[in-house]
Amino acid sequence: MRHLVIGAAGHAQEVAWSLRESSNARGEACSLEFFDDAIRPGPLPSGLGRVVGTLDDVPRALRQGEARLVLGIGLPRTKATVVARLACPESLWTTVVHPTAVIGPNVPIGCGSYVGPGAILTVNVRVGRFATINTHCLAAHGAVLEDWVTLHPDAHLSGEVHVEDGAELGAGSVVIPGVRVSAWAVLGAGGVAVRDLDGGRTWVGVPARALAHGRERGTRRAARAARVEAS
Ligand SMILES: CC(C)(COP(=O)(O)OP(=O)(O)OC[C@H]1O[C@@H](n2cnc3c(N)ncnc32)[C@H](O)[C@@H]1OP(=O)(O)O)[C@@H](O)C(=O)NCCC(=O)NCCS
Repeated sequence: MRHLVIGAAGHAQEVAWSLRESSNARGEACSLEFFDDAIRPGPLPSGLGRVVGTLDDVPRALRQGEARLVLGIGLPRTKATVVARLACPESLWTTVVHPTAVIGPNVPIGCGSYVGPGAILTVNVRVGRFATINTHCLAAHGAVLEDWVTLHPDAHLSGEVHVEDGAELGAGSVVIPGVRVSAWAVLGAGGVAVRDLDGGRTWVGVPARALAHGRERGTRRAARAARVEAS
């Protein structure tokens, strides 16, 4: 199958690699073309394929022959913006599960979502659309991950945790049983949520506390992301 990968940075290449591994495991062919507004056309260092255009080129590529879309973006708001911009039927979006991920019974996973290597979703876990469950994450019994949610590597959700739309849990974060993470909230890397994270705010530390209001949040984070993209 021909796949158009949306994004070409490091995370997109990880998703594409996972897709290639799962296709190989099923004995299916997998070709990959990458689209990114910020990365120039040409081969990618991972050898997984080439950047062939920007997001504006995706509709034309779809008209050129049968293809599926793969979301190679990790940040919730960017995912939502890009999927809205492309405005493609949801049936075109592939769900990617690395073959080493462990998926238990009664674990539906919505379209366009990604489950990375070594992730474990135990039993009765519900995963919405365009969710990202990165390398080595754990979601235990009864966890709910709504649409656009992102779990960065090694985030661990205990049983019956509910993560609302677009919330983002940083690398190595932990959510104890039954806690609710509100829509578009952020739990920083290494944070431990011991009570509900209300109000779509940014929470850090052990136990997690909301960052104070008063200055624009995310400024340093945006600068860090730009440095990663440029490297
Ligand atoms: C929480 C987070 C989103 C905050 O980003 P930000 O809004 O740009 O915040 P800043 O970097 O300006 O930090 C604000 C304050 O929070 C502190 N802080 C930031 N992240 C923290 C964390 N994970 N744990 C504890 N404190 C943290 C900073 O030290 C700073 O404190 P100060 O005001 O006393 O100096 C970000 O630091 C983070 O942890 N993101 C997770 C990213 C991740 O896991 N990526 C994985 C990619 S694979």
